[in-house]
Amino acid sequence: MEDVPQIGYSKKVMDHFMNPRNVGSIENPDGVGRVGNPVCGDLMEVSIRVEDGIITDVKFKTFGCGSAIATASMVTELATGKTLEEADRITRQDVADELEGLPPRKMHCSNLAADALHKAIEDYRERHAETAE
Ligand code: FES
Repeated sequence: MEDVPQIGYSKKVMDHFMNPRNVGSIENPDGVGRVGNPVCGDLMEVSIRVEDGIITDVKFKTFGCGSAIATASMVTELATGKTLEEADRITRQDVADELEGLPPRKMHCSNLAADALHKAIEDYRERHAETAE
């Protein structure tokens, strides 16, 4: 990794970009969120497994840039083991802080994963409301 120019990215961003965690999609997920980035047109999908109100597994797929990959990887780590309420409160700023910062012009990329996670939680709640009726 020493040979890769970092161009203003922290080591943590580069680590999550080069070795992204939780890539893929969960089979028969409890919730799925898909969002597009209005700034660049890139896409993100996050799927979640929920057991007793706790997110036990999170996976992502993206047509996004390196920052989108790194932030999504970090979001999956932050959300795993959290309650739905806690995961709902994860912001793009939390993600950027955990990654030790993103260049300002790449902050729009960090919206994707947090927004897709929130949508997956919304999807879970909608499915759950339907089955509860
Ligand atoms: Fe599109 Fe980063 S440039 S998500």
